[in-house]
Amino acid sequence: MIDISASLLAADYARMGEEVVRATKASVDSFHFDMMDGHYVRNLALTPDHLRALRKYTSLPFRVHLELSNPDDVIEMFEAGDAQTINVMLDTLKEPRSIFTRIRSLGAQVGLTLTIEQPVDLVIPYIDEIDELLILGVHPGFGGQVMHPQTLERISFASRMIQDKKLNISIAVDGGINLTNVGRVISQGCTCVIIGSTLFKSADMAGLVQNIRRMNSFS
Ligand code: DX5
Ligand code: ZN
Repeated sequence: MIDISASLLAADYARMGEEVVRATKASVDSFHFDMMDGHYVRNLALTPDHLRALRKYTSLPFRVHLELSNPDDVIEMFEAGDAQTINVMLDTLKEPRSIFTRIRSLGAQVGLTLTIEQPVDLVIPYIDEIDELLILGVHPGFGGQVMHPQTLERISFASRMIQDKKLNISIAVDGGINLTNVGRVISQGCTCVIIGSTLFKSADMAGLVQNIRRMNSFS
């Protein structure tokens, strides 16, 4: 069963609560919160306060994606229960194991994210300690970009690696997912599609979500 996660970076910021309700009614499975610092990426985005403010609009899981230089400091700004998954970028971690422990102490699952330049096998030393591997399809920082052509290959490599090791790890893919490529992203082994622009720009979000689920049943 595919997890369709709505990336709020593409939502209408003037009506964030309504956007969360709209996506919940459209039957997405979770929400994706990009947190950016203007330093690791040239953009600023959401904060833990958004998680708390938006919690009353949905009971769906909140998944955080830290796209910032100092995750060890920022993780201290979270409270237990704020998020159900916290994804950290491997290239920002000084001591991956200590932040994983901190994420678990918040009651959240651990996600590890690779940039498009990083070989997938860089996660091998940590593979037994994570719940999710997030493969970025674009350079971090902005929604609405085109997916990098090697992403499909990277998903299938990750999927084979996880199957060979008989692990139960979700493969999330983030960035550049649209109706044309989503079927291939899923058939290569992605278990969580993170979608921003395509979802929030759609006038028929429920129809779009249904279409994606139908593609999954053929994959
Ligand atoms: C990029 C973010 C993504 C972004 C995806 O830095 O991590 O979550 O919101 O947006 P789309 O689906 O528009 O590529
Ligand atoms: Zn993201």
